[in-house]
Amino acid sequence: MKKIMDLIAEELAEAFEGAGYDRGLARVTLSNRPDLCEYQCNGAMAGAKAYKKAPVMIAGDVVKRLTDRKYIEEVQAVNPGFINIKLSAGAAASYLNEMKEDERLGLEEVKKPQMLLIDYGGPNVAKPLHVGHLRSAIIGESVKRIARKMGHKVLGDIHLGDWGYQMGLIITELKERKPDLPYFDEAFEGEYPKEAPFTIGELEEIYPAASARAKEDEAYRERALHATCLLQNGHRGCRAVWNHIMQVSVSDLKKNYANLNVDFDLWKGEADAQEFIPDMIERLKAEGYAHIDEGALVIDVQEESDTKEIPPCMIQKSDGASLYGTTDLATLVQRERDYTPDKIVYVVDKRQELHFVQVFRAAKKAGIVSERTELKFLGFGTMNGKDGKPFKTREGGVMRLENLIAEIEDEMYKKITDNRTVEADEAGRTAKIVGIAAIKYGDLSNQASKDYVFDVDRFTSFEGNTGPYILYTIVRIKSILNKYTGEGNSLDGLKIKGAGSSSEKALMLEAAKYNEVMETAYEELAPHKICAYIYDLANAFNRFYHETKILTEADEETRKSYIALLILTKEVLESCIDVLGFEAPERM
Ligand code: ARG
Repeated sequence: MKKIMDLIAEELAEAFEGAGYDRGLARVTLSNRPDLCEYQCNGAMAGAKAYKKAPVMIAGDVVKRLTDRKYIEEVQAVNPGFINIKLSAGAAASYLNEMKEDERLGLEEVKKPQMLLIDYGGPNVAKPLHVGHLRSAIIGESVKRIARKMGHKVLGDIHLGDWGYQMGLIITELKERKPDLPYFDEAFEGEYPKEAPFTIGELEEIYPAASARAKEDEAYRERALHATCLLQNGHRGCRAVWNHIMQVSVSDLKKNYANLNVDFDLWKGEADAQEFIPDMIERLKAEGYAHIDEGALVIDVQEESDTKEIPPCMIQKSDGASLYGTTDLATLVQRERDYTPDKIVYVVDKRQELHFVQVFRAAKKAGIVSERTELKFLGFGTMNGKDGKPFKTREGGVMRLENLIAEIEDEMYKKITDNRTVEADEAGRTAKIVGIAAIKYGDLSNQASKDYVFDVDRFTSFEGNTGPYILYTIVRIKSILNKYTGEGNSLDGLKIKGAGSSSEKALMLEAAKYNEVMETAYEELAPHKICAYIYDLANAFNRFYHETKILTEADEETRKSYIALLILTKEVLESCIDVLGFEAPERM
């Protein structure tokens, strides 16, 4: 469906043209003065110069022309030349009825679906998932769902940090603790055990222990580096330990992400890129894209228009080892070969921006991806505690994701069971659903690039701009609809009639914005715009609810129309929270 503002603009364009002006001037925006009108057009001001006329005269001419109107109910030319517009309630009602009938709620399917790849999550295997990975997972999941809702083909790739020194450390520490394992016996030629020689709990303890020891013990560090090197060169025993680490870690990660309603199509990682590195480096050298600089192999990426220095992209250290940039470039080789994406979005901490500038430029310059492939860095800010410093546990340690989720769930559980008689079972399930919404909405309602304060009290509140408030609104609508059907009524085929009150009209106007908001959120990769929208929509609904007797309305047609409006409002809210990555419970 066309956007409501475009429909108004089309009507206005006829009038501009009819009055002898350029129809392109008929752009319509939401009103800056909601007390006076709903929409406005500033075209008369924009055209004043070209037509050498006072804007208000142009506006007056246009308004005079607007005799035969479908969408515009009231229109006024006001000083210094604005055209103030109110939408016809009847037209709004038919627009909403059309939305209601449409499976996509009026969201137009993209004409040319693109192939998108979202690189998000990015946890490091064998290190516990901590809150730093939370934002990437939440934002990336939402961007993926928004793109999908628009009709694009989208793949989400977790891009595991599963290669390199951290693995060498674990192998070394394991050898230290269990030297008799066959992996460390060079003479061993049999089959290695299927079962991993550690649990996830042990693994999570091994890594920090090894990492700490390597910082103090030089010989140990050398051994870890050597193990890394052996692994990278395909040493049988090291590779087998690596497989165990992956197996144990990945199943734990899967559980954690599933708890967050985050779901990856591809579980690839840095290790999967390794096989592409040798050929890539050969080509980069042979074709003159890479050169040796102070012993390292680099690609220059500085551009003339740069105002600051952009260091070259390093692809091989003097000792032959590859780097983070090498892996990302080789991953692009693989992605190009397997998916030829039109666009790749990287949802990563904004402190990594320079790295991605280097990688993107190198990839384009060397033709690893085509000129047309859009490489987009969606950098996010830090999640801080109330003290304004990066979020920590009460003891000052890194907060594990699981614990954070548990803390929020406990808080929600308390709120749900306070003053209410709910079965413990149901309260538990609800707390889980609402808890996830609290975390995700608390994050997504901020512009991604900004730092924000993770405030448990605020995020779990049922009032204000929070996830629980949005869910509470949906649950309220569900309960009204349940009562309505409970009285023997059907929800089928109900039509929205039109606005009787200003709060009803306001709710209708909010609901009608859905397709516009979703499109903008996609174009700008901005889930926070969806949050802002559903907050407005929920507020509009609650105002309508408080001012209107819905179920006890005497006139049957009006009552049915209210119910129809509620159904649509609920569907819009549900579609929006779906792309934000959470859902509403039946009761709260
Ligand atoms: N594992 C990385 C980290 O923890 C994030 C990976 C981001 N994605 C990428 N393609 N580099 O910092």
